[in-house]
Amino acid sequence: MRYLITGGAGFMGSNFIKHILKTQPDASVLNLDKLTYAGNLDNIKEVENDPRYTFQKGDITKREDVELAFASQPDIVVNFAAETHVDRSIMDPAAFVMTDVIGTHTLLESAKKYKVEKYIQISTDEVYGHIEGEGYFTEDTPFRPRSPYSASKAGADHLVQSYFTTYGLPTIVTHSCNVYGYNQHPEKFMPLFITNLLEGKKVPLYGDGSQVREYIFIDDYCRALEHIITHGTEGEAYNISAGHSMKNKDVALMILQALQKNESHIVHVNDRPGHDVKYAVNADKLKALGWNPEFNFEQGLQKKIQWYKDNEWYWKKVKQSPEFIDYYKRQYPDLS
Ligand SMILES: NC(=O)c1ccc[n+]([C@@H]2O[C@H](COP(=O)([O-])OP(=O)(O)OC[C@H]3O[C@@H](n4cnc5c(N)ncnc54)[C@H](O)[C@@H]3O)[C@@H](O)[C@H]2O)c1
Repeated sequence: MRYLITGGAGFMGSNFIKHILKTQPDASVLNLDKLTYAGNLDNIKEVENDPRYTFQKGDITKREDVELAFASQPDIVVNFAAETHVDRSIMDPAAFVMTDVIGTHTLLESAKKYKVEKYIQISTDEVYGHIEGEGYFTEDTPFRPRSPYSASKAGADHLVQSYFTTYGLPTIVTHSCNVYGYNQHPEKFMPLFITNLLEGKKVPLYGDGSQVREYIFIDDYCRALEHIITHGTEGEAYNISAGHSMKNKDVALMILQALQKNESHIVHVNDRPGHDVKYAVNADKLKALGWNPEFNFEQGLQKKIQWYKDNEWYWKKVKQSPEFIDYYKRQYPDLS
């Protein structure tokens, strides 16, 4: 099976490439990635010499880059490439519209032209909006995105669905809850807290930390996605979640405890504008395909923390980059 995986130098794409090269001996992968600030070839070091793996630096919004990638005649396209950080979407929405919407359209056009076997769009539970009170998102929940990030992802998802309906392109869209694990960029909530604490620094918690998120560990996520690609039905959407529902504050406290630090390390910073209160994801449709998570939240968190302890070289390089230092100063002026 020939895979074209976009955004494979990022957190989830790189883990998924390593996963399928392990589980599918006959698979080959072309990784198309622009290497934005979030793309990091260190993420994919383990397989860079694998003859089944090829890297192409390129931009999914550029037709010539996408056409070159499709010349490898992929059977399956998995689109992870995106601008992904909500806080950055509030600072600069244009980059999100460009990559997440226009980039997806560019890929869809080539996928249609080259008649790929499957086109998989990696999306988020954030397209459904947020929940105030009880309830959960199913695949039939209408989209009500609230940030420029989730609005761009929702726009792309609608386009993907329209290519199934209009042109018969064999598409699947996945809506995942928050994924955590190895090789995650230290701007994101959990890696930021872990690495700041490992450096003896304070950690910024938005507002009172009462927002609720659902989590899935990266190893479970990769198995879930592979399962959907193999067993999912064309034209459908699938939610992905391990059902681990946590308040931000409680995640912060668990990280503090695991690193033997106390609450005095928390700095309550101004809440994110329009901060979503709660996401809750119903993943029954995926479970009905025969998938179940293997890790509970504590196990996944322990593995993640250990990985960041063992790989200081990795995240220190990112955090010492001028790009990260500049972002951190703008985002957390009280902590810089
Ligand atoms: N991380 C999560 O918790 C989560 C949850 C649900 C869905 N998602 C979705 O999963 C996907 C991957 O998320 P992630 O956390 O791994 O992201 P990430 O930010 O770690 O990686 C994104 C990758 O996309 C690449 N990229 C960005 N713009 C590009 C362009 N124009 N052309 C080619 N490559 C480009 C970057 O260089 C980077 O390697 C995204 O589509 C995101 O919306 C993420």
